[in-house]
Amino acid sequence: MFQLTRSVTWQALERLRDDTAHDRIRDYFAQDPQRFDKMSLRVDGLFLDYSKHLISDAVLAKLLELADHSALVQRRAQMFSGDIINVTENRPVLHTALRNQGDEPLYVDGKDVMPEIHQTREQIRRFSEAVRSGEWLGYSGERIKDVVNIGIGGSDLGPNMACRALLKYRHSGLNFHFVSNVDGAHIQKVLQRLDPATTLFIVSTKTFSTQETLLNAKTARRWFLDNAGDDADVGAHFIAASTNREAAMAFGIREENVFEFWAWVGGRYSMWSSIGLPIALSIGFAGFMELLEGAYAMDRHFIEAPNARNMPVLLALIGIWYINFQGAETQAIVPYDQALHQLPAFLQQLDMESNGKSVNIFGQPVDYKTGPIVWGQTGSNGQHAFFQLLHQGTRYVPIDFIASLKPEPGVEDHHFALLTNMLAQANAFMEGSQGQDRQHGRLDPYSCPGNRPSSTLLLDELTPRNLGALIALYEHKVFVQGVIWNINSFDQWGVQLGKRIAGEISERIDERTQDFDASTQGLLALVRAHF
Ligand code: F6P
Repeated sequence: MFQLTRSVTWQALERLRDDTAHDRIRDYFAQDPQRFDKMSLRVDGLFLDYSKHLISDAVLAKLLELADHSALVQRRAQMFSGDIINVTENRPVLHTALRNQGDEPLYVDGKDVMPEIHQTREQIRRFSEAVRSGEWLGYSGERIKDVVNIGIGGSDLGPNMACRALLKYRHSGLNFHFVSNVDGAHIQKVLQRLDPATTLFIVSTKTFSTQETLLNAKTARRWFLDNAGDDADVGAHFIAASTNREAAMAFGIREENVFEFWAWVGGRYSMWSSIGLPIALSIGFAGFMELLEGAYAMDRHFIEAPNARNMPVLLALIGIWYINFQGAETQAIVPYDQALHQLPAFLQQLDMESNGKSVNIFGQPVDYKTGPIVWGQTGSNGQHAFFQLLHQGTRYVPIDFIASLKPEPGVEDHHFALLTNMLAQANAFMEGSQGQDRQHGRLDPYSCPGNRPSSTLLLDELTPRNLGALIALYEHKVFVQGVIWNINSFDQWGVQLGKRIAGEISERIDERTQDFDASTQGLLALVRAHF
């Protein structure tokens, strides 16, 4: 069996790690005046600067060799053509089909799936136009003013992040709310501000079986029935995005208002499907299509560009260098853009649910690190919160800085301050600072070690198209890392285990069961006293 860590390339990378242990990133710039030009890349409306990394030419060449020697070409072709690459769930992985703009057929189990995809897109177009134009009316004849998306994980984070990112394109007569937490405080807080006669609920759940979402949806329906219409009116106020048509209809949703998608769309990859309905409602169907087109442009780039000029491949390899050869445990995502404030949470699920694995596709335990802990928040705020640790702490944290270049009219000075702060931080992390004095041989506390790496991703402007390309970029980065690590990036058995045990505990709350461990039994007794 092939062993990654025994491969010649992996071992060469380990030697390079030792050989470059005392390198300084800033010296790479001094040695090569062309470094920025060589280590930056534009794809569509995205510009990536990856020059501020502790990556010499020799290291980059070896990392590229790692990609060349991996199953990337084969697995990428398999993913795009609908082969079963999610082996534990026996499914293809075809979120890319949802944004496909080509007219080639795409076969799953011998059936071309593109006509169904076009049909659902058309259903989204008609529905979003009806709501936005006021043609769709609530039970009492009023137009919709508030849209509440009820979903969790991939059925929340994608549309939630995108609606906030694209807020400036929002329909002025519609407000959007996202309820995900099973904590009743979440839905209560949202509902107390709403009028049931003018509220539309989207029950977003791939399986229509997720406890959190079903509980929130039932609470929303009860609130609607208590304060407004009767059962026959539910259909005018509840729609669903789900692969489970029967369960959605049993909930009271009209058949024509179940927006279908398919088992081959993973939850965290589903914002391109009908899970993206809130996006289409907010920015309009044309804007939603632009989002898909941006993602498609990134798909084409990912397929066509050579690895050395391939943005997702490069980001994946840079991550691998830090995770597997420099001991980095985490990856910080720092958007210098308030509209992207949900991006770190979205990328956290995308990356950690996909690559949080320790068994490879051959069923062996891996003997190397896989997906990093992904975390972060907007730059300006993060700068005054956790950046201190990044500058002077003992952790080694690569950072992705993300920003859009074009300022909003009226706040150009803010945008200038935002961008210059970001550039200053990236520079400071790399350069560090020498302390003024070294007294009695002690290191002075003012100095920052520097040599801390970052990528900078600039969007020409935060448009639907560029956002689509950005998200597809990270999807493919995660995919490439999964391929190199030989893991299945598309299942989530750990999450399933938690779901199953939550079901068992709630079913047996009344039993004095000895099945659970003593701690769980003791805690359960305390909980039981309140129900
Ligand atoms: O978090 C685990 C998960 O299975 C995600 O992959 C998914 O997006 C989420 O739960 C919600 O599942 P569903 O869309 O079926 O309600």
